[in-house]
Amino acid sequence: MREGSLRKIVPSVRAILDRHDATPGLVVSIQTFGSYAANFHPHVHALVTDGAFNKEGECLQLPYFDARFVEEVFRRRVLERLHQASRLSEGFHRSLLGRVHSGFSVHGEQSVPTDDLKAGDRVALVAGGIGLAPLVLLARTLAARGFAADLYYGGRNETDVLKRADFERFLGPHRCRYATDDGSLGRRGLVTDLLAQALEGGTAYRRVFACGPLPMFRTLAALLEKTGVEGSFAMESEMACGFGVCLGCVAPTTDGRFATMCKEGPCVPPTFIDWKRI
Ligand code: FES
Repeated sequence: MREGSLRKIVPSVRAILDRHDATPGLVVSIQTFGSYAANFHPHVHALVTDGAFNKEGECLQLPYFDARFVEEVFRRRVLERLHQASRLSEGFHRSLLGRVHSGFSVHGEQSVPTDDLKAGDRVALVAGGIGLAPLVLLARTLAARGFAADLYYGGRNETDVLKRADFERFLGPHRCRYATDDGSLGRRGLVTDLLAQALEGGTAYRRVFACGPLPMFRTLAALLEKTGVEGSFAMESEMACGFGVCLGCVAPTTDGRFATMCKEGPCVPPTFIDWKRI
């Protein structure tokens, strides 16, 4: 399975980048959660780098692509290989192909709690440095669902601020604002100052989604508390096991305990975290 996945993914990534020395990173595991036949739920967990490394160790970033299309191709190939290896009967293979919700994913779609949001609600995305990662997909999802979303994105300098073209395509360039420490892109200063200025200027947000370093979260949590705006923070905890055993991802909570971000997060309201103890 691992070799089969590599055989498909490596040439594809090399062709897209037009670099034959580029090697992507890939971790794949098959999960067989559920009891066989009753609610058997075979699915694949995959982590694929958003680019590839050349021999000098430089990371070459992939351009934007439609992850849903890749997901469908990958799903069909996995099922075909399981069938060829006599792990799925012909009938079960066909039945799995016919499922509308596949349960397979090769791309980390972030679930967006929009059920309580109404069309026309305005939201903000706040990213700091590599904290952009979950927000690119969120921007695409929000745009597809018709929400008005503004981006506030900060970094040390212009080269720190990644995926601008994707954000601007999903949200519109006029909705994307930048701040850098050295002023090489957007305003010189902190991204939280940009948001504070917008709130002071009367811009009203139904919710602020954020991901970034701890100092940014702290300042943002205080700002949202002061202005009464609801938040959802994607905590950047280091996760070793991912299922609540190693306790490497814990964060102190306002009810006096420690919560594992891999199980209770990673997206939590800022009021959930005790920012004085973290
Ligand atoms: S990653 Fe191990 S407990 Fe969360």
